[in-house]
Amino acid sequence: MQKYTLTMRLLHWFMAILILGLIATGWYMEGIPRDAPNKYDLYSWHKSFGLTLFLLVLVRFIVRITSKRPSLSEKMPSWEKQLSRAGHFFLYLLMFFVPLSGIIMSDAGGHPLNFFFTSFDILVTDKKLASIGADFHAILPYVLLGIVVLHLFGVLKHKFIDKDPELDVLKKML
Ligand code: HEM
Ligand code: HEM
Repeated sequence: MQKYTLTMRLLHWFMAILILGLIATGWYMEGIPRDAPNKYDLYSWHKSFGLTLFLLVLVRFIVRITSKRPSLSEKMPSWEKQLSRAGHFFLYLLMFFVPLSGIIMSDAGGHPLNFFFTSFDILVTDKKLASIGADFHAILPYVLLGIVVLHLFGVLKHKFIDKDPELDVLKKML
């Protein structure tokens, strides 16, 4: 079975870990009361890794359109092919808009962006824009998580229910 290129595989797994970590830290940070002394401890890490993910998704778009990808098995029913393509499309869309909404929420809200040892601004302060960013950033990460769960079910279905090595898509990503 043809595999995804090594670059695509490394990006897939590194970004998957990063995203799950960002959802966990974001959810944890959000739950801390505003006046608690540890409220902002993780913010700069969340923003730094969130920006890293945003840069990586741009790299991944380019790598994806310029590298050869394994095709879906002829044996796969067409509804499954369509579902898989739609799922991947929404995963890419959300990997772009989740960090973008975080960037807009923070930067337009007057809080600088952190990137590990440095911090900077790219947007002028605009509270209305920041609140739109915040509304999206409060929902989209969990929509992404929901699609990741469906994505995982799809992979597991091919592995454990179909029990046909030709349909075992996981091998393409390992
Ligand atoms: C894929 C990347 C990212 C993921 C998966 C993610 C995920 C999350 C989640 C799940 C929350 C909690 C939302 C809630 O329950 O209301 C959150 C909050 C937050 N995120 Fe992100 N985030 C990402 C990128 C970013 C970026 C790039 C920034 C800013 C540069 C950022 C800044 C924030 C801030 C400031 C909060 C607010 C916490 C609070 O309200 O106390 N995030 N994020
Ligand atoms: C945050 C978590 C994840 C994200 C955002 C994600 C995203 C994606 C995307 C966008 C693709 C399509 C690649 C392309 O054609 O360019 C993909 C493929 C794939 N992913 Fe994930 N993934 C995640 C987690 C996982 C997990 C946990 C597994 C399995 C345990 C997994 C297994 C696979 C496999 C096997 C493929 C290839 C599917 C095929 O070509 O038919 N992914 N993933």
